[in-house]
Amino acid sequence: MTGKPTVSSLDDLPVRDELRGKSPYGAPQLDVPVRLNTNENPYPLPDELVARITERVTEAARSLNRYPDRDAVELRTRLAQYLTRTAGHPVDHRQVWAANGSNEVLQQLLQTFGGPGRTALGFEPSYSMHALISRGTGTGWLSGPRNDDFTIDTEAAVAAVAEHKPDVVFICSPNNPTGTAVAEETVLALYEAAQAARPERGALVVVDEAYGEFSHRPSLLPLLAGRPTLVLSRTMSKAFGAAGLRLGYLAADPAVVDAVQLVRLPYHLSAVTQATALAALEHTDTLLGYVEQLKSERDRLVRELRAMGLAVTESDANFVQFGGFDGAAGSHAVWEALLAHGVLVRDNGVPGWLRVTAGTPEENDAFLDAVRAVTKELKEKSEA
Ligand SMILES: Cc1ncc(COP(=O)(O)O)c(C=O)c1O
Repeated sequence: MTGKPTVSSLDDLPVRDELRGKSPYGAPQLDVPVRLNTNENPYPLPDELVARITERVTEAARSLNRYPDRDAVELRTRLAQYLTRTAGHPVDHRQVWAANGSNEVLQQLLQTFGGPGRTALGFEPSYSMHALISRGTGTGWLSGPRNDDFTIDTEAAVAAVAEHKPDVVFICSPNNPTGTAVAEETVLALYEAAQAARPERGALVVVDEAYGEFSHRPSLLPLLAGRPTLVLSRTMSKAFGAAGLRLGYLAADPAVVDAVQLVRLPYHLSAVTQATALAALEHTDTLLGYVEQLKSERDRLVRELRAMGLAVTESDANFVQFGGFDGAAGSHAVWEALLAHGVLVRDNGVPGWLRVTAGTPEENDAFLDAVRAVTKELKEKSEA
């Protein structure tokens, strides 16, 4: 027999060098009473939608012996109609592409426009999957600057793009985990800088708008015209309350949609997924009804956390970054203490800060009570 008979760790496997010693994405999935750690929508789908999904999926099940529509034309048409209606700007299905969650959309973009010998740049702290998917696709990752208040300093960001000449630029707006929305002028300045840095064919600029529906800023869809390498990435996981569905989509120039066909797996979007997403899109108004409620709960969280004397970052999303804790150890101690009170929030590794998702009013009350109790306990401990 040749080779090693047993494998005791990943290091014994011939995995790619750049994956060695790295950790997978892994927000804890713990069974606790109040789960406010993954920016999900706390409201289950309404019964009439569950019934419609059942009907649509039953229909789809009759043809599961066949592959699904590889181009998901009906679904892309409905998504385009949703975008047209909410942005007040016409979009057609040739500008829209859908995949299993916006993470898969981002992966397909990086497979197409990134890859070995190429780089992607994002402004950190930001959504950790931008760096992880870059690594997974062999794309080099570059970390760009942010101000102390987590906004993007346009001048510094433009300078970073000019210096590094990335192939792909990520702008997360509203940004996860800070909640900060990015001004249209900043997006435009970064787009121009990215094109100027790569005059041959330009660079891809991806605006990750996973939380777009929660933002006070108008949609960037009108900017797509005349900007062939600008991409808006969206998801049904947050505002639509359908994280379990796994449906993300992008809007861009039709040429970008054609380009991702080169890397997408054939029939990547199952007939069951397409049927479920179509049913959800029939109930857009009901689903988006929760968005207003979540925005007002988010604003209440900001007010009440500030009233407790905590630092809170302005949020345009369905979550709030709060802190002022003593470095990474301080925020982690608060995270653990909240968990002991049955409340799970997110430690994104931003020293001194934690992130809480806006839940139902009852969940938010439980969270706020736990924060009051925990800050009191920690104060008493430090004074003892
Ligand atoms: C900024 C951002 N983009 C993309 C995603 C991925 O969402 P999904 O793959 O569920 O569409 C998330 C999920 O938390 C996110 O926060």
